[in-house]
Amino acid sequence: MNYPESVTIVEVGPRDGLQSEPEFVPTDEKVNLIERLSDTGLRRIEITSFVNPDAIPQLRDSEKVAARLQKRPGIRYSALVPNFRGLERAIEAGMNEIALFVSASETHNLKNVRMPVKKSLSGFRRIAETALERGMQIRGYVVTAFGCEYEGRVPPEKIEYIVGEYLAMGVGEISLGDTTGMANPIMVRRTVRRLKPLLGRTALALHFHDTRGTGMANVLAAIEEGAVIFDSSVGGLGGCPFPRMIAGNIATEDLVAMLHEMGIDTGVDIDLLMECARYARIITKRELPGHLLRAGRIDWQGRPLEKA
Ligand code: COA
Ligand code: ZN
Repeated sequence: MNYPESVTIVEVGPRDGLQSEPEFVPTDEKVNLIERLSDTGLRRIEITSFVNPDAIPQLRDSEKVAARLQKRPGIRYSALVPNFRGLERAIEAGMNEIALFVSASETHNLKNVRMPVKKSLSGFRRIAETALERGMQIRGYVVTAFGCEYEGRVPPEKIEYIVGEYLAMGVGEISLGDTTGMANPIMVRRTVRRLKPLLGRTALALHFHDTRGTGMANVLAAIEEGAVIFDSSVGGLGGCPFPRMIAGNIATEDLVAMLHEMGIDTGVDIDLLMECARYARIITKRELPGHLLRAGRIDWQGRPLEKA
């Protein structure tokens, strides 16, 4: 098996994570978190979303976050955008990169953005055209790519259709989201294998949630099919705390530690990242689902490196 020398991590905690926190995280704390993450060696961070603030009140301060953030050179900061209004706000806020999103499941898309998949995609064309004209980078999410709580499994043809539409718009990267944590390693292998020949120069990222404990196994399966870009969230932010704690995105520090122990580089300083995870726990005022955060790290001799 050929493993890659390095893997790129896209930190999505400030957006995917904080959007579902029960309590509003103050703007300055969001900005602090993003700046601390920027110091760890992470090269890509999704910082917020320019959606309807009534839909996602947790991120209603997106303009302020983008304005207060001291952007570091060499880091790609991006924001989620649902429609043209979102693009205008992102441009106004000085963003150079946007992420579009559409669900592979019709029901999920209707509940999430109140329109059918086709309508989402047709709206994206003008957004992509304008963004590309301005030299912005575009990522396209396929949400619920591995299954949906309303419709169950999603036919692979539906994913291919969305990917085809994104490719025609000229997006630079597609991220397959296991929003509901329904993927398993064999499914991931099949999906990546099926999509790879279609992608041409467009990059493929995988976005796993650890809702049902398959997150890391899915990462390994994707790596073994040649994937080298993964989304994750510091501390495993993104879980839903009610009615009981449900795991969120795979935790960035768990991912980084696993990859480093496998001899795969990420460019990220794990100690600084652990500090970010502890900071995320402070600002969300709750225990987070990340494994390292709870268990602490150990070295190869089994000596604890830190207290959990
Ligand atoms: N930013 C700010 N406000 C926006 C907006 C945007 N990008 N898009 C629409 N709005 C406002 C409109 O101005 C309008 O405001 P008003 O009621 O004061 O006139 C209101 O939202 C409704 O606009 P409409 O175009 O009818 O949108 P909608 O109600 O059909 O909602 C979305 C569609 C996509 C805007 C909304 O569902 C949304 O923002 N969803 C986000 C979902 C999300 O982020 N999910 C998590 C990520 S997977
Ligand atoms: Zn997600």
